[in-house]
Amino acid sequence: MARILLGVTGGIAAYKGLETARLAVKAGHAVRVVQTPESQRFVGAASFAAITGAPVLTSEFERDPARGAFPGQEPPAHDPASHLALVENADVLLIAPATANTIAKLAHGLADNLLTSAALAARCPVLVAPAMNDAMWEHAATRANVATLAARGVTIVDPGVGALGTLGEWGVGRLAEPAELLAAAERAVAVGTPPVPDAPHPAAPGPWDGRRVLVTAGGTREPIDAVRFVGNRSSGRMGFALAAAAADRGADVTVLAANVALARDPRVRYVDVATAAQLQAACLQEFPGCHVLLMSAAVADFRPIDVSDIKLKKTERTELTITMEPTDDILTALAGQRRPGQTLVGFAAETGDGAVAYGRGKLTRKGLDAVVVNDVAQPGIGFDTPDNEVTIVTATGDTHIARSDKAQIAAAILDTVDALGRGVPQLDPTPA
Ligand SMILES: Cc1cc2nc3c(=O)[nH]c(=O)nc-3n(C[C@H](O)[C@H](O)[C@H](O)COP(=O)(O)O)c2cc1C
Repeated sequence: MARILLGVTGGIAAYKGLETARLAVKAGHAVRVVQTPESQRFVGAASFAAITGAPVLTSEFERDPARGAFPGQEPPAHDPASHLALVENADVLLIAPATANTIAKLAHGLADNLLTSAALAARCPVLVAPAMNDAMWEHAATRANVATLAARGVTIVDPGVGALGTLGEWGVGRLAEPAELLAAAERAVAVGTPPVPDAPHPAAPGPWDGRRVLVTAGGTREPIDAVRFVGNRSSGRMGFALAAAAADRGADVTVLAANVALARDPRVRYVDVATAAQLQAACLQEFPGCHVLLMSAAVADFRPIDVSDIKLKKTERTELTITMEPTDDILTALAGQRRPGQTLVGFAAETGDGAVAYGRGKLTRKGLDAVVVNDVAQPGIGFDTPDNEVTIVTATGDTHIARSDKAQIAAAILDTVDALGRGVPQLDPTPA
């Protein structure tokens, strides 16, 4: 059972807030609701109060009859300040739906109503579930505000594609379904507040100034038991070299680092992940805000189905069979969500003849802009080595880069992104 503080803002999807509150109460959670004044033009406080069995607040200046307590909690003897008490008592703050307006306020630290004040005071995990018209969602201001919140550790529950609230509208911007919202809130309670990533030192201005680059690096590890995993030999060198090269050109760089033990670049923001599923979740969160995705991590294709939470002992068995299931294809999922102005570069670490043909197939199959192919069977290049030799496959042809260090390979890959002529702008207020 968790204490869920549900923030509801003024969009058409506010009606889904009612269903989210209902599902949460049904699942045994204690729920309090804070509404923005505008949200009450869409759904009334009486419905939320009836569903949650608790008063609904809108203004920080209004008295809370429950004195900040959640259902089942003993109220204090005094009247606390609601914007502080509610978040202090909450295990999670879920803002659903979150309007473009409220997202903008949160990104800039405004505190002009009870919900935005409470969000600023929250030490619990905060989830923001945007819902809006697709033009509003794709506007550079909203993209930047969402990226700011994500960078601060706020979990963005991405909107889906489908019919939007206004009659006849269709596109991205549809609020996630209530069951999904509740599951995300429950996950956040289980995991706790994510650490706020260290603020990177901004890169010096350069030709990629204002461009947001997302790099995946390293290799995922899929647990077998409490101490063992199925992994691969990727060190993360190629991904880290790409991040450094992009920062050299002035880009804002985020690296999703899967088990990388290399030194970190102070100009780059890092998010650490371990498994393919964690990498996928991080990619889904970060991808909407990036202009260029460089997917260099070696992601497990399969993972053990049954994972023992204790160490398996040799004395207790004469053989061990591990049954694996396929992991989700992250690039295909991301390619399906791409917006104009995004460039997607995949990597194919293959062995032997046919590697380039495989890369070409991957280019078209996954709808990518470029695929960087390397033959990891060749001695001295590829995994966990300072050098590489690659072929960059694009729709217009192949470019072979002879054996060189990974910094030079990274520069050649970024030059290819430039030559593709994509990768900035509708998304960005300050095009490079
Ligand atoms: C019919 C109607 C529907 C709206 N739907 C949305 C919406 O889905 N998402 C959004 O961001 N804004 C929407 N708006 C605009 C917001 O209501 C407006 O920005 C408001 O100031 C939001 O206030 P709040 O963020 O404090 O709740 C809508 C406005 C109207 C009149």
